[in-house]
Amino acid sequence: MNKAIDPALMQAAEATGSLGMDAYWMPFTANRAFKKAPRLLQRAEGMHYWDTSGRQVLDGVAGLWCVNAGHARTRITRAIQEQAAEMDFAPPFQMGHPKAFELAERVAALAPAGMNKVFFVNSGSEAVETALKMAIAYHRVRGDASRTRLIGRERGYHGVNFGGISVGGMVANRKHFGTLLGGVDHIRHTHDPARNAFSRGQPAHGAELADDLERLVALHDASTIAAVIVEPVAGSTGVLVPPQGYLQRLREICDKHGILLIFDEVITGFGRTGNPFGAQTFGVTPDMITCAKGLTNGAVPMGAVIARQHIHDAFMNGPEHLIEFFHGYTYSAHPLACAAGLATLATYAEDGLLTRARSMEGYFADAVHSLKGEPNVIDVRNFGLVAGIELAPLPGEPARRAFGVFLDCWQHGTMIRTTGDTIALSPPLIIERHHVDQLVDTVRAAIRRAA
Ligand SMILES: Cc1ncc(COP(=O)(O)O)c(C=O)c1O
Repeated sequence: MNKAIDPALMQAAEATGSLGMDAYWMPFTANRAFKKAPRLLQRAEGMHYWDTSGRQVLDGVAGLWCVNAGHARTRITRAIQEQAAEMDFAPPFQMGHPKAFELAERVAALAPAGMNKVFFVNSGSEAVETALKMAIAYHRVRGDASRTRLIGRERGYHGVNFGGISVGGMVANRKHFGTLLGGVDHIRHTHDPARNAFSRGQPAHGAELADDLERLVALHDASTIAAVIVEPVAGSTGVLVPPQGYLQRLREICDKHGILLIFDEVITGFGRTGNPFGAQTFGVTPDMITCAKGLTNGAVPMGAVIARQHIHDAFMNGPEHLIEFFHGYTYSAHPLACAAGLATLATYAEDGLLTRARSMEGYFADAVHSLKGEPNVIDVRNFGLVAGIELAPLPGEPARRAFGVFLDCWQHGTMIRTTGDTIALSPPLIIERHHVDQLVDTVRAAIRRAA
């Protein structure tokens, strides 16, 4: 097609000005395809985006699993604006500012009992690195320095830094990056379509998969293992809901062997499962929680590690003038992020959003499970306000069918997300029934057109 008359390109050229689109190397994006047919967002409010042509697009993924309270919430916007005017930056090392302490208190109050120490970072990936380092250092400061091994899970996603991709289990995120961190191993993933396809909520089969940790203990010896990290609901790999009893069993095995359990709640944190954290929904308390995304409603980058008291206390030794944990980021507890976080938590509380998934879950589950029987739909998985719809891959072309559905939905005014051949839905928690209908109807029509 002649570039000069391609409407998408013309629109992009207008929107990006005379400088064009060459310089920006986009993350996790098919850059060449994108730049031939750009999808440019301009504005957002509530459940919707508007693209640069002014077209309204329903947000089926809360931006990127993060805008839990919906877009452009006035309280959050104002808080960021006011904070920027009052104090733009405050160094977090050997200095503090009141909102950092207030936000930590409020996050701790939402966390499971006993998880009351909050370390701020700027992203989910940084939260993961921080938690992994904290785990290894925790054992060392207690005199248990041989516990250095980290255990992840196949198909896990823990961000993109070296620790995160090492414990992570998504091959595309690992294979290009060399030997990764040493001393890492993985337990088996929990995806078992033969027994669990089309489960509503937690699948019935697979608690015993947690016993795979015993295999690694037998192989490496517990005295070498610092921590196990898992997502309570694996998101980025395509929404894998933990089998009934699985997380409980994992907790028991960790306790038995003195291994720390880290829940990566970057997606499940802040209401996605009907409680502030997945830990509460599943009734399993880990030693650390990593979170980000919904902490500030996506408005300013921020993440956090929430640790149990005893983890923190183990570091509080030695002369008091010395730094206890040699770790932190220039932008830890950034004033704008703290202001956004406080306003976000106030918005969640005011609107009851951290438990809203409970009342919407049934309607949402009915809607997504109505896709069973549509062409090429081989599984539907759901929990809280998250769902995965898995399609049979096109022969020899993995991920292509689902990506086609993504593009089709976009053309029909709905933004979804796909990973491999799974469609992931994780709408803002303010979603109403008519939005659920629109979302699922658009996906259904796109799946049919892709058949
Ligand atoms: C479970 C989990 N951990 C970590 C991350 C990484 O977060 P970020 O992209 O903010 O670094 C993500 C992002 O989707 C995630 O889902």
